[in-house]
Amino acid sequence: MDSIVVTGNGALTGAIPIAGAKNACLTLMPATLLSEEPLTLTNAPRLSDIATMTQLLRSLGAEVASLQDGLVLAMSSHDISNHTADYDIVRKMRASILVLGPMLARDGHAVVSLPGGCAIGARPVDLHLRALEAMGATLDLRDGYIHAKAPGGRLKGAVFEFPFVSVGATENALMAATLAKGTTVLKNAAREPEIADLARCLRKMGAQIEGEGTSTLTIQGVDRLNGATHPVVTDRIELGTYMLVPAICGGEIECLGGRMDLVGAFAEKLDEAGVSVTETERGLKVSRKNGQVRAVNVTTEPFPGFPTDLQAQMMALLCTASGTSVLEEKIFENRFMHAPELIRMGARIDVHGGTARVTGVDKLRGARVMATDLRASVSLILAGLAAEGETVVSRVYHLDRGYERVEEKLRACGAQIERISA
Ligand code: EPZ
Repeated sequence: MDSIVVTGNGALTGAIPIAGAKNACLTLMPATLLSEEPLTLTNAPRLSDIATMTQLLRSLGAEVASLQDGLVLAMSSHDISNHTADYDIVRKMRASILVLGPMLARDGHAVVSLPGGCAIGARPVDLHLRALEAMGATLDLRDGYIHAKAPGGRLKGAVFEFPFVSVGATENALMAATLAKGTTVLKNAAREPEIADLARCLRKMGAQIEGEGTSTLTIQGVDRLNGATHPVVTDRIELGTYMLVPAICGGEIECLGGRMDLVGAFAEKLDEAGVSVTETERGLKVSRKNGQVRAVNVTTEPFPGFPTDLQAQMMALLCTASGTSVLEEKIFENRFMHAPELIRMGARIDVHGGTARVTGVDKLRGARVMATDLRASVSLILAGLAAEGETVVSRVYHLDRGYERVEEKLRACGAQIERISA
């Protein structure tokens, strides 16, 4: 298992290109199952999760060609030869559940392994299933698999209100509704930019969708969808992560391709903490306003609120801010596993349930720490960039799921960072 060694090296300055969004690509890829025509994605991120989704789609009979060093994914599901998404693949990545809606909508049946939990929480899929049931699906859960059928071979339009916001359930229902007979209205739908990106791609394929970006999606089902070519939207979580580099280390970083509309609440919170974010022709330029970063309180919420996927990274910054910050994690039940690792680096953090109180210290100290999940791993790297001495982050396979070429991008800005293979 690889580790990453990072040594605090003072202020960092330079430009970092932001890749296409992992969480957009992971829902755009299953959309190929909705059509017999080719779907090509450009600006795709080069990540292990994308390789896992590629493996899953191929296991269903889709053709997926990774071109131009993985930046282009040329997919075609002329027919789905296997309608079972196997546990061995699904257990590696929860987003595998997103093949359920498309397969069911296209061919009227699908068998998908229940994904199982993950480090940050139980993460059930009950809302995915309830939305599909509302559209007429029959779901039989047995031997760890969801056996789904659409009576008469086709889902039917329905009005469904999500009891609470779910990104994945919204994506599954949205994709399924494009081929259902009649009109579907999804209420209290998630508003994340990745869902708006999916809606734009589906519309290019011939779907009739209104309301993306709002909490009500209205979809008029059609009989078939065509092919399309679509660029994956910029990754707002990678963007936010690299925006924190000059905040925690000092210096100035320009995030190429960054857009303010993708990080609104996050940029406001940075501004409150004393970090300036300015739009440039090439993206977003970030630096401290006057040297010191102030403590701020953070509560994670569905978009457009503060993203849960940036909570761990923000905590790293607040470990060195002046004053005490309170972070409330409202989306997942166990998403503070980075706290004990940061404490090993000298951070002062008290965790009680979904609340973490962070009291800033002058300097973190390098230490051996362990990555526990994707975003926790990058928060430890951020802390290591600002710490005194050497930090060794183990189990960086978590990192590779969501961040491409981290060492390269940071080294280009002056960071002392390298990957070592155990
Ligand atoms: C997506 O996960 C993202 N993953 C997550 O990013 C992100 O943290 C999350 O949305 C919230 O923004 C992808 O897009 C691939 P949810 P998802 O359904 O869809 C509960 C990362 O780091 N819930 O919005 O699984 C759930 O347990 C990953 O890139 C149910 O109870 O998130 C959670 O507590 C981590 N039943 C809350 O809702 C359901 O049927 C929000 O989950 C579905 C969800």
